[in-house]
Amino acid sequence: MIDLHCHILPGLDDGAKTLDHAIEMGRNAWEDGITKIVATPHVFRENISQTDFVSIRQKKEDLKKALEENNIPIELVAGAEVHISHNLIDEIRKNRQDLVINRGSYVVVEFPQVHVFFSVKDLFFDLMNEGIIPIIAHPERNSVFMEKPSLLYELIRMGALVQSNSGSFVGRYGREVEEIAFRFLQYQFTHFIGSDGHGVHSIPPILSEAVRIISPVIGEKNAHMLVQDNPQAVIDNQELPYLPDPVDPHASQKSFRVKIPKIFKRSD
Ligand SMILES: [Fe+2]
Repeated sequence: MIDLHCHILPGLDDGAKTLDHAIEMGRNAWEDGITKIVATPHVFRENISQTDFVSIRQKKEDLKKALEENNIPIELVAGAEVHISHNLIDEIRKNRQDLVINRGSYVVVEFPQVHVFFSVKDLFFDLMNEGIIPIIAHPERNSVFMEKPSLLYELIRMGALVQSNSGSFVGRYGREVEEIAFRFLQYQFTHFIGSDGHGVHSIPPILSEAVRIISPVIGEKNAHMLVQDNPQAVIDNQELPYLPDPVDPHASQKSFRVKIPKIFKRSD
């Protein structure tokens, strides 16, 4: 599997604190069946953003070497989790190679948790005009998308992609986020599942649990697409092999109900 979203580079943001923590995260991921990790430190985010790209590149090289020395054969891929702001286009023009995944066209973008600004469609239009394909990180945790899935639908119809967190499907962020994650999955909004891993314990770089849980919902083959074939296409800068038609939430409001597989329901 490939983890498209992980804060494994140490000492840059609220992810791995030290090189030892990062190595431990790599070990956990490898044991879970993850062979590639896209390192996505927060950039342009207040308080915990890291915009020293020279330092980010160096940390990636240091960790790559440390993983090799510790016999953890995980491949690290360059990326970032880019906080959305009004001057994002300027930042993309200035620092494109440090923001896109593996020097391609895809960028992981993050909205503030409780806010999606008014001109988001214009911004996404401008991004795509620059040849950038935005991957919206964990929209199931954003209160605007939670209340208004039709906005997410419209952005997907424009060409944006969606990455949900593996932890969202196992209740790590609470019941409401879990239900929304399944709802988006059933609307066929979800193109990737990433760990958004921040450490060994709090949010670990684990994908297999979520894959097991969603397989009865979208099928084993499609579940695999979200953690293997689709993220591999991003790394290779290719079109996604699994790109289902999103369902219009307005058109399907009555017939769609959130179905969380019973066997995986938690007791609390
Ligand atoms: Fe993240």
